[in-house]
Amino acid sequence: MKPSDFRSDTVTHPTEEMYRAMRDAPLGDDILGDDPTVRKLEALAAERTGKEAALFVPSGSMSNTIAIRVQTTPGDAVLLEEWNHSLNFEAGAPAAVCGVITRTYPSNQGVPEVDDVISRVFPGSLHTPATRLLVIENTHNLHGGAVVPPARVRELYEAAKERGLAVHLDGARLFNAAVALGVDAREITRHADTVNFCLSKGLSCPVGSLFCGPRPLVDHGRRFRKTLGGAMRQAGILAACGIVALETMIARLADDHRHARALAEGLARVPGAILDPADVRTNIVMLRLDGPPSRYGRLQEGLKQRGVLGNVVAGRMFRFVTHRHVGPADVERALGAVAEVVPKL
Ligand SMILES: Cc1ncc(COP(=O)(O)O)c(C=O)c1O
Repeated sequence: MKPSDFRSDTVTHPTEEMYRAMRDAPLGDDILGDDPTVRKLEALAAERTGKEAALFVPSGSMSNTIAIRVQTTPGDAVLLEEWNHSLNFEAGAPAAVCGVITRTYPSNQGVPEVDDVISRVFPGSLHTPATRLLVIENTHNLHGGAVVPPARVRELYEAAKERGLAVHLDGARLFNAAVALGVDAREITRHADTVNFCLSKGLSCPVGSLFCGPRPLVDHGRRFRKTLGGAMRQAGILAACGIVALETMIARLADDHRHARALAEGLARVPGAILDPADVRTNIVMLRLDGPPSRYGRLQEGLKQRGVLGNVVAGRMFRFVTHRHVGPADVERALGAVAEVVPKL
């Protein structure tokens, strides 16, 4: 029997329509600038985020690195939430590739207070780094797919602008946020200068993310993508999937959110589980257990033996992610396995 794979929404495979689109896509050489399918995807991404231009890149990590690189110079400071993806999971790219100082701000389960962010801006002086960029992650992965409400994004944006900071939105799961809020994604992206979103997660594409923003920054990013070795040739094969994703795969994210909520409600009934199902707004469920952190590794192993896959995150919580390949039967299987394993930990 196939495992129920809750490790990540990145495990999703292309749909039949994507395979057809790949086969039929008109192709060129994107480095020479003439792949029509890449151009079409980039235009669509710019339109869907309300930005002037967009750049197709191989990964969300590269998109975020480009965002930082084109909006800072080495020695500048960037403000990131303490569990932000670029800070914790992009192998040190902000420092290694962009040469920036990272300064963290706290949040209440992924939703920051404006004062907490602004208090991290270095005072302008000869001695201090210049604080140039604020990064907001929405949805917030490590905070269980938390959604930062558009009103808070606007307040953060306005406070950043008063202090001359640019704002980058890491919207790897931007469309999960939009679907959870019942708003057009542009309601979220309008209060950001640049945006990353990923095709390769719940939208089921095999590869790819989009860096979106004003044309001069996207042009700069296009050059820097080359520096990083991220420019691709017949990338239209991949872009074709992205077009299908943006046209057909967004509304169904609501199913993933429903399954995540059902999972969270079941998990909350397990003795020793620490989670509030009301915090689960999108497709990520973070389970905490009372007792020592070593229990998470044993939970992972016990679930695996029962055909249920998930991840230990940061050694202190267990993550389940819902996506197109897990449904109600997988949720039931996971709940049964957790109920069996947890008492034995
Ligand atoms: C919030 C967030 N940003 C960026 C990324 C990086 O995306 P990629 O794995 O395509 O580099 C991820 C990946 O999970 C993510 O969750």
